[in-house]
Amino acid sequence: MKTEYVIIGEKKERASFIKRAAEVLKEGGLVAFPTETVYGLGGNGLNPLSSKKIYAAKGRPSDNPLILHISDFSMLEELVEEIPESARLLADKYWPGPMTLVFKKKDIVPLETTGGLDTVAIRLPSNEIARELIREAGIPIAAPSANSSGRPSPTSASHVKEDLEGKIDMILDGGEVGIGLESTIIDVTEEEPVILRPGFITKEMLECLLKNVQFDEAVLIRKPGEDFKPKAPGMKYRHYAPKGNLTLFEGEREMVIKTINKEAAFAKEEGKVTAILATDETKDFYEADYVFSLGSIKEVESIAHNLFRVLRKIDEVGAENIFSESFPREGLYLAIMNRLSKAAGYQIKKI
Ligand code: TXA
Ligand code: MG
Repeated sequence: MKTEYVIIGEKKERASFIKRAAEVLKEGGLVAFPTETVYGLGGNGLNPLSSKKIYAAKGRPSDNPLILHISDFSMLEELVEEIPESARLLADKYWPGPMTLVFKKKDIVPLETTGGLDTVAIRLPSNEIARELIREAGIPIAAPSANSSGRPSPTSASHVKEDLEGKIDMILDGGEVGIGLESTIIDVTEEEPVILRPGFITKEMLECLLKNVQFDEAVLIRKPGEDFKPKAPGMKYRHYAPKGNLTLFEGEREMVIKTINKEAAFAKEEGKVTAILATDETKDFYEADYVFSLGSIKEVESIAHNLFRVLRKIDEVGAENIFSESFPREGLYLAIMNRLSKAAGYQIKKI
């Protein structure tokens, strides 16, 4: 399949590109598009065949449900059984934006889209290209992150091209995304809302609105296994994994630097290509083949923004042994640690 690649500028072609992309979606095709979090791989969320195509293009297990994207709150009623009070509060404050809510689904939403679940995840993105596209298509757009399954989520259209060229109909290049981490997912089907995936909208922010909000166990950076099963099926898969072996080091800063340098020197002796993930403040203290800074420790948003791009870079340089610093398990840093520890297959050394 030939993938059409278009750059959406502020030019007057914008409307015609979006119109064409909407036609592709209505006809059952797949279009990758920018959102404020990461790029999404869109298909008609009400068409089981489109959802099947999404799973095939990504190489994604079909029990891992897709998020339906809407352009306006009024599209919600058609898709979900009920809109609980907590959902109204959350939507009022954080939609459009980087937040996904899980509801009980109506029959119109096919099980192919929800991975066989009787619930459906819905997001109203703030990115204007995304919203124009959904509005033009007039249907909810099922869209997982537009990466091959297992790879880091795409924060630019070139990442999408790397993973999906030749497998989808169209890529809309709307530039680099703003946030760089996927949306916060909150299950509102129970009495107490539960955070299934941490993101830009943090627990601390939600607690300003809701009396009780809990984390699903999978968020708390433990390897899913015998003892618990994450409520968001996607949280059980190894994600974002670089080809090399990634280990995180957690502890007091000086000790972390010392230990990582020791491990990197050891790996080097064994003839391995080594890479270290650090911050602006610590990068000069390290020695390895490649030292990448994720950004300044004082600017958590820029670390979130850079993470997936740097994880892709690690593969590009062919790093075999990768050592990374850790971050505090709170606020937006928790979302960063959630992605990093999955990338590391939960290999975390406490020092
Ligand atoms: O920011 C985002 O959310 C991006 C952009 C494109 O919107 N999308 C995204 O989709 O990250 P994806 O498919 O990569 O991740 C969706 C996550 C998976 O972990 C999936 O298991 C979970 O959402 N999920 C979807 N439907 C669910 C449901 N009904 N119940 C529980 N978890 C659900
Ligand atoms: Mg994903």
